[in-house]
Amino acid sequence: MLTVVSVIVSYLIGAISFSYLITKKIKKIDIRKTGSGNAGATNTLRVLGVGPAIGVLILDVMKGVAAVLIARSFGLTDWAVALSGLFAVIGHDFPVYYGFKGGKGVATTIGVFFMIMPFDALMAGIITILIIVISRFVSVGSLFFLLFTPVLGCILGNYSPAVLAAVFLITALGYYQHRGNITRLLHGKENKIGRKKSQA
Ligand code: G3P
Repeated sequence: MLTVVSVIVSYLIGAISFSYLITKKIKKIDIRKTGSGNAGATNTLRVLGVGPAIGVLILDVMKGVAAVLIARSFGLTDWAVALSGLFAVIGHDFPVYYGFKGGKGVATTIGVFFMIMPFDALMAGIITILIIVISRFVSVGSLFFLLFTPVLGCILGNYSPAVLAAVFLITALGYYQHRGNITRLLHGKENKIGRKKSQA
């Protein structure tokens, strides 16, 4: 029963779209209709600049952190904690408050991964930052982080198969949400940081 409560609470927290709220407040526009069309920190950077983007990034990361902390405060198993993290990401991607059209879940995933497998997420995160700085493709860094953290967890960690399954589901969802980015990358049309271009 507590697992169900945790999953629902995590979803409802994840569904709060800070990029949508902040962009609406500052520019009176729907972030999902401008830039890449994504409700996330990267698109907030395009639309509002560095300060608001960092704010959105931190708040979205905290949604993942909060979901894990709440699940742990309920005394749930590691698997149920990871499941709650997954639902925070699902909330971010498909938010009930905004017509189920949200973001790609990377920042919230960062929060979840850092809470569940901190060493692996830190290692992956350092390489991710280098990838983004060198390539200027946030999506490439995101895709790397999404996959490399759980792969490292498999190799170096001692996580149960159930926890790993939940974590890889988060990765799979992230890749699904980046399908437009992957297509653009393959066609050499992906947006770099600082440029406004195609949707999804
Ligand atoms: O976290 C989302 C990022 O990987 C890509 O964002 O706006 O370029 O599609 P965007």
